[in-house]
Amino acid sequence: MEVAVTGAEERPVRLGALGTSSIAWRRVLPTVVRTPELRLTAVAGRSEARSRRFAERFGCAAETDAAALLDRPDIDAVYISTPTGLHRRFAEQALRAGKHVLVEKPVGVDAAEARALCALAAERGLVLRENFMFPHHPQHAHVRDLMDTGRLGRPASFRAAFCVPPLSKDDIRYDARLGGGALLDVGVYPLRAASLLLGPGLEVAGATLRVRAEDGLDLSGQVLLVSPSGVLAELSFGFEHAYASSYTVWGDRARVTVTRAFTPPPAHQPLVVLEEQDREERLLLPAADQLQLLLEAFARQVRAGGAGAAESGVRAEAVAAMELVDAVRATARCVAVE
Ligand SMILES: NC(=O)c1ccc[n+]([C@@H]2O[C@H](COP(=O)([O-])OP(=O)(O)OC[C@H]3O[C@@H](n4cnc5c(N)ncnc54)[C@H](OP(=O)(O)O)[C@@H]3O)[C@@H](O)[C@H]2O)c1
Repeated sequence: MEVAVTGAEERPVRLGALGTSSIAWRRVLPTVVRTPELRLTAVAGRSEARSRRFAERFGCAAETDAAALLDRPDIDAVYISTPTGLHRRFAEQALRAGKHVLVEKPVGVDAAEARALCALAAERGLVLRENFMFPHHPQHAHVRDLMDTGRLGRPASFRAAFCVPPLSKDDIRYDARLGGGALLDVGVYPLRAASLLLGPGLEVAGATLRVRAEDGLDLSGQVLLVSPSGVLAELSFGFEHAYASSYTVWGDRARVTVTRAFTPPPAHQPLVVLEEQDREERLLLPAADQLQLLLEAFARQVRAGGAGAAESGVRAEAVAAMELVDAVRATARCVAVE
């Protein structure tokens, strides 16, 4: 029997982009325009010329500011890629205008901002998602499977790192007023990976942050977590190291390492290494576009609406992640560097 589908369910989700950012230009909007479930309707930034440049490249309208974008009745959802310190303000405006929201990671600068936005989205029945792409890559389900089928034995340790070399001096990540700092920018990835693999209820047992002497902005850090079952997690992150983007889950039978955990390019075939006492297996997994998978999931959720257990689970995860960030800040011993 054929099921009748209404036009609204079939129609692509109409998206407005707020912020003419580097990540929108390089990665997100090129993927949006080749995702059939979404249609980019308009883009808005502070500069008319930049908004027009985006509009020409991506085939959409240009608006001069957030208010004009949010006023458009032909937009169902807004993608926000402003600096992290402005996520809360713009996400709140978008939700109050009745738009679903895909906001760049992290959702805000602390747990209070995350809670406020999640409560507003729940109250309005709207979808609020962070653009955390990596959990959508199937390579992590593969690791989960190795854990669940006992290949690793009993996990005792987890290690994860997301580090990049120093950025250009004028990067938003070096501006504390815009929500800069390594913990909010890169530290949130290993924290999320620990939650993904070890489950909820992680506690911060210790943390150190290397902070800029002049203003205390965190440049890199290390965190020790403990899971409810006693797994110890060691996390490293920062803007002060050669590139690293990996994690290892280590049990009493084997350990597994994901070598390109957080930002595998769409065509990259991920290498997962399983090490046992006498043998090593190198598993080359199929390539996947983790952003496109996220965008498809976002579009499905917008069509289904913001209510339901899945949505409240996603919101609870976002809040829990920011509570861990707050706990790292509260626990950290800071070391000033010149
Ligand atoms: N999911 C990921 O993999 C990923 C990767 C990279 C970055 N990000 C996140 O995306 C966000 C943007 O990062 P980015 O590297 O793309 O930054 P960026 O190129 O500096 O872009 C930030 C944009 O925010 C807008 N903006 C509004 N008010 C601003 C202000 N006072 N100062 C500076 N910019 C302002 C600007 O666009 P207008 O001039 O149009 O307003 C600017 O282009 C951050 O939250 C970051 O954490 C996520």
